[in-house]
Amino acid sequence: SHARITIDRDYTIADVPRRLFGSFVEHMGRCVYTGIYEPGHPQADERGFRKDVLSLVKEMGPTVIRYPGGNFVSGYLWEDGVGPAADRPVRIDGAWHTIETNAFGLHEFVDWAKEADVEIMEAINLGTRGVEEARALVEYANHPGGTYWSDLRRKNGAADPFDIKLWCLGNELDGPWQIGHKTAAEYGRLAQETAKAMKLVDDSIELVAVGSSNRGMPTFGTWEHTVLTHAYDEVDYISMHAYYQEHDGDAESFLAEAVEMDAFIEGVVATIDAVKAAGKHTKQVDISFDEWNVWYQSGLDTEDQPHQVSKSWRTHPRLIEDTYSVTDAVVVGTFLNSLLRHGDRVRIANQAQLVNVIAPIRSEEGGAAWRQSTFWPFERMARLARGQILRLAVSSSQISTKRYGDVDAVDAAATWDEETGRLVVFVANRSLEESNDLTVDLRGLGNLRVTNAETLTIPEDGDRFTANLESAPDSVRMVPLPGAEIVDGAVRASLPPLSWSVIELE
Ligand code: AHR
Repeated sequence: SHARITIDRDYTIADVPRRLFGSFVEHMGRCVYTGIYEPGHPQADERGFRKDVLSLVKEMGPTVIRYPGGNFVSGYLWEDGVGPAADRPVRIDGAWHTIETNAFGLHEFVDWAKEADVEIMEAINLGTRGVEEARALVEYANHPGGTYWSDLRRKNGAADPFDIKLWCLGNELDGPWQIGHKTAAEYGRLAQETAKAMKLVDDSIELVAVGSSNRGMPTFGTWEHTVLTHAYDEVDYISMHAYYQEHDGDAESFLAEAVEMDAFIEGVVATIDAVKAAGKHTKQVDISFDEWNVWYQSGLDTEDQPHQVSKSWRTHPRLIEDTYSVTDAVVVGTFLNSLLRHGDRVRIANQAQLVNVIAPIRSEEGGAAWRQSTFWPFERMARLARGQILRLAVSSSQISTKRYGDVDAVDAAATWDEETGRLVVFVANRSLEESNDLTVDLRGLGNLRVTNAETLTIPEDGDRFTANLESAPDSVRMVPLPGAEIVDGAVRASLPPLSWSVIELE
């Protein structure tokens, strides 16, 4: 099959929002405990932070990390996680049927985030709590001192404010599974009043209202409309969450899920703008896609599934430790492409989660840490997408899918950095069988040459299910894409079947 992409350096979408390359650390399963934090591990520093995991996080390059949940946050008392470790209460976490020791809390996360060089995106509990606890937390975190909550922070060892700019007003409160589930009107009012009170403590913060937990929610669309009708003036973003998986061996449809992600984003943009127009607002609310990934939620009956774990009460049980294949990594690459294509409105995005729990990084208790296949597209795009997002004209051979009809065989996004003179094209070939002869016409981009071309595809001796296991952690990775070159002012490349490639030009 074949495809032609036309790029014109003057046709841009937006600056690359660096917060698009976010991740998520929840008190869930082994993301915190035995993930980023494991006192006593041979690689742990004096604070219990695993240096092996930290170095993989730095390599992957997330810019912002959402914390501490997730469903967990809707029953969490943040005060439990601050103060002398010995005095912290042990609690039941109802969301994941887990015992929470509170050994790790806000101060530990702030210290860890500094080490990892990431911005913090703090979620508050609007399931069981409200305005008072939220404004207390902003005062605790961001007020310099001389008041009750800020002095408590200082007493707990942090003289300087944490200066957390980005806050989530709860989590998935449209979902019946959520502790403190609400109707859109109940949540809209609560979000509005909580946002107002938080900004009265610190008016420099940015706030994310809860959107739909996924596009299939019965309230999708009306939820966003009602919530924003109440809270449009007080909030800066509305959230989106989406998880995708392959169903019944239908790889073609799975590989086309970015089509669904595109439509989901465009639907939320339309709803935001409808509320903006009706309310005669001038300010622009944007999207925080603060949970997205591949997650095998159905069809698996392994021991790390929530319904299995809930038979007992344990600390840090294995929970949803999905192992990702080449196919999953290519799909993740197309999701990153979709997010980048919508970077004018999706200004924040968080792959869920960072370590062990549906994560690009895995670690074993007392043992090794390694990169899953899905690590690679994230790492490459987080590092290379710089400058302006380009608007692409794509014409491609089609693939027929059960769920989405005919879709383009190639899925692409690109960035142009005026300062460095670098053009980067991110392009997936969704075909399972055929390579794709790609031509990229370059308009207004002078005499660029290909400086590097790499691809993530089926490894030699492997198949589309090949994954990175602890025993073979480098099976799936980026490898050179031979033959990418400029011919008559256009880039020519042959994309392998089932691949996600990066072509860098200068
Ligand atoms: O990321 C796993 C879970 O998925 C989160 O806790 C929740 O917000 C979502 O349903």
